[in-house]
This record gives sequence, structure tokens and C-alpha cells, in this order.
Amino acid sequence: MKILYFTSTGNNLYIAKQLGGELLSIPQLVKDNIYDIEDEAIGIVFPVFYANAPKIVREFIEKASFKTDYLFLIASYGSDGDQNAFRILKKTFKKKGLEVSYSNSVLMVDNYLPMFDMKEEKEIKDDSEIDKQIKTIKNDIESRKEYHLKKRSVSDIPFIEKVLESTMTKRFHIIVGDGCSDCKVCARICPKGNIDLSGAKPAIGDDCLFCLGCVHHCKENVFTINDEKNSQERYSNPNVKVSEIIRSNNVL
Ligand SMILES: Cc1cc2nc3c(=O)[nH]c(=O)nc-3n(C[C@H](O)[C@H](O)[C@H](O)COP(=O)(O)O)c2cc1C
Repeated sequence: MKILYFTSTGNNLYIAKQLGGELLSIPQLVKDNIYDIEDEAIGIVFPVFYANAPKIVREFIEKASFKTDYLFLIASYGSDGDQNAFRILKKTFKKKGLEVSYSNSVLMVDNYLPMFDMKEEKEIKDDSEIDKQIKTIKNDIESRKEYHLKKRSVSDIPFIEKVLESTMTKRFHIIVGDGCSDCKVCARICPKGNIDLSGAKPAIGDDCLFCLGCVHHCKENVFTINDEKNSQERYSNPNVKVSEIIRSNNVL
């Protein structure tokens, strides 16, 4: 079994590690130009971004060729939009002549700083419930179950993801402040290699996914979001080491 994953604050790496199999980071596959994926079972594990899969995940799937008997999608999400993300990815796979056999999601800390307070999120999201959900998914996958998450959702509106993404990306941006200790974590955790450290402070280029990996992992809180809920508290999955996220995302 091969698990292709994307993570910025560790939730999806946490899920991927528990599902077992061979773990393949999507940014590393892109970096190494590997687009032929073949295995008896293949899973895509991703965070929901604006009721969709992140652009790096969508673009990889569109470009790649997959050969498998059992294809499954697992999303981690913080509030809503998982169903919509599955609908879009299933359509993409269908165009490639592939049916998704299983889709399911795990409710975890919502790391979207513009709208959620990390302190509150960490308190609200129940670790034992998260582990229970992952265990169910693991058992389902091991038995190669055919299942699709079906739930009514406020994001069941046509093209919601387009509206959300364009509204939010226009409204929010990352501000780079002072206090950089030159630890280089931001540049190494960026899945697009989009942070330049040659100047006095980090400079974010034009190819930003807004995945917030740099913002959440900067120990000096150099990065903030305009108009964010909570300017201090940050999140990284406590069961995953920052070095593991860096290994997954570093494309430099
Ligand atoms: C740009 C962005 C957009 C997001 N959009 C959504 C969303 O539409 N719905 C949702 O439930 N969670 C959303 N989230 C929250 C993440 O899906 C969630 O926190 C996920 O578990 C993070 O996974 P990771 O730790 O592996 O990066 C968003 C996060 C980011 C950074």
C-alpha cells in the first residue's frame, strides 16, 4: 500500500503514519518528478483547504497516473468542506478512468489562523475522538471496505470552493515582522521552496499556498496574518516532530 500525503502542521502525517504502508510526501514526489504511482492499494491523505484539496494535491493528481485496485481518499479538516473536497477529487479521478473505493475524514484542529483561535481549537478537538476515527478508517482500509462518507454540509453549494478561495486569498495575507533568528525552519518547511532568506528578514515569494507551515512553526512569531483571530498561539500536531514535517516538505 502506498499513502501519498500532504501536511503543513502535521495532522495528515499523523493520520498517514497510523494507516501504515509506504508513505510518500506529495511535495517530494513533485520535487523528484515522480508521477507514476502503482500499488495494489493507493491512498491520498490531505487537509481540506477552502472546501477543496490544496492546490499542490490537486495539481499532482491531475498530472499523475495511478494504477491500483483500491483507491482511497482521507481528509483531515477543522470545520467543514470535506465532502466537497471528495466530490472534486472523485471527479478528477473519474476523468482518468478511476473510481475511488473509499472516502472518509477526520475532524482535527483547524489550523486556519485567519478564522480560528488555536488555543480554543486545541481545547475543543478531542484527541481520543481523533484516534477513534483514525482507527475506524485503518480497519476499513485493511479490509478494503467500499464506503463513502455521506453527510449534509453547509458547503454543499456549487463552486463554494472557488468563492471561498478567491475571497479568502484576497482578504488575508502573511506579514513578515522582525525578530528572525535565522533558524531557517520557515524556508525548509515551505512545500514550494518559496521563502528567500538572503535578506534581513524572510521574504515570501509569489508561489505561496497559504498552507501556513511557516507561520505555525516560527518560534519567534515573525509571521502574522493581517486581521487574524489570535496573533500569538500557533499549532503543530503534538504527535509529529517538526523535523518530520520538514523532511516531508523541504524542496530546497
Ligand atoms: C488555507 C487553508 C484553508 C483551510 N480550509 C479549510 C476548510 O475549508 N474547511 C475545513 O474544515 N478546514 C480547513 N482548513 C483547516 C485544515 O484542513 C486542517 O486544520 C487540517 O487538519 C490541517 O492539516 P495538516 O496539519 O496536515 O496541515 C484550512 C486550512 C488552511 C491552511
